[in-house]
Amino acid sequence: MIASILPTYSRAPLAFVKGEGSWLETADGSRYLDLGAGIAVNALGHAAPELVATLTEQAGKLWHVSNLYQIPEQQKLADLLVANTFADTVFFTNSGTEACELAVKMVRKYWYEKGAPERVEILTFAGAFHGRSSAAIAAAGSEKMVKGFGPLLEGFVHLPWDDIEAVKAAITENTAAIMIEPIQGEGGIRPASDAFLKALREICDETGALLVFDEVQCGVARTGKLFAHEWAGVTPDVMMVAKGIGGGFPLGAVLATENAASGMTAGTHGSTYGGNPLGCAIGAKVMEIVTAEGFMEEVSRKAAFLRQRLEGLVAAHPDIFTEVRGQGLMLGLKCKPAPVELVQAAYAQNLLTVPAADNVLRLLPALTISEDDMAEAVRRLDAAALALESNPA
Ligand SMILES: Cc1ncc(COP(=O)(O)O)c(C=O)c1O
Repeated sequence: MIASILPTYSRAPLAFVKGEGSWLETADGSRYLDLGAGIAVNALGHAAPELVATLTEQAGKLWHVSNLYQIPEQQKLADLLVANTFADTVFFTNSGTEACELAVKMVRKYWYEKGAPERVEILTFAGAFHGRSSAAIAAAGSEKMVKGFGPLLEGFVHLPWDDIEAVKAAITENTAAIMIEPIQGEGGIRPASDAFLKALREICDETGALLVFDEVQCGVARTGKLFAHEWAGVTPDVMMVAKGIGGGFPLGAVLATENAASGMTAGTHGSTYGGNPLGCAIGAKVMEIVTAEGFMEEVSRKAAFLRQRLEGLVAAHPDIFTEVRGQGLMLGLKCKPAPVELVQAAYAQNLLTVPAADNVLRLLPALTISEDDMAEAVRRLDAAALALESNPA
């Protein structure tokens, strides 16, 4: 008999009843150190007091009114995002997948309105993950995600990762946009090189194609910059955001330049819940906190500490780990065994980590994690590695 929850996830036998900072607790009082943060969502940790206060205050005032009306909290968050990024305008969603949907619609509508309706193709990259909607799986194109879900949305051209010659060969007069995660998350914490991102920007400038960055996982201060593309010194025309922006509340956004957004006029897109007062009040508080003076420097300082400890871990366990990669507090440990074995061994140490493709174990702690907790996490990873070494699968 089918489970009462549609069995699309393989879940660990763990249920948490409360959390605080980087720690989660089960009903029997067992405490787990959380290096997954809800897959890069709980950017300020569990039950962050400022977010609890904002949510509680807004919950007592107004949750939802619909986009039929002005929403001051939405305006505030949009203004904060515009003031702190390349963007001129923002549309709010409830998830990353919905942000991907709009990004695809926006770039196609742009060319339609420019009188070039044949420009529909979007170039995407191997290892990409943009969500689970029909557009997002077609964009990623991997067999694992699309098998059985055809016919797929047409118009995506899948290219090898970080290969500028392949992009030059694939771009045509029908190319509407290039869509890329500056650092692939699900794909195994794979940063695109700065040179690659710069070259994509140049190609887009030459051909008019729009550059779309998916910063759903790598954005919102996770890398020590508000958005990861800032490290490469290039800006996109359109950007997808979610996860960290809500600090645990379902919230996403598409940010765009005025030019890229020019096709999206009244009636062309909508979302019942997108931009609701509750979510936007929380998003605005997250933005205020992560853009406050010193916050991102502190993320980079923490990241340097964690990375250095992880390099030591890799050196100590050459049969288990081969490399540390990533940026800021979006780190991956390339493993020799399957990363799920590491995830399991870490559970035994009351430590939560997340597997990814390309044999990588993901570490995505709260941006507020303490040095003591990072040191403790590395001790637990060391114990997990030792357990695997003495008892290989
Ligand atoms: C880069 C990226 N894009 C899009 C998504 C989809 O976001 P959501 O699960 O909120 O729909 C994810 C989720 O992991 C992601 O990592």
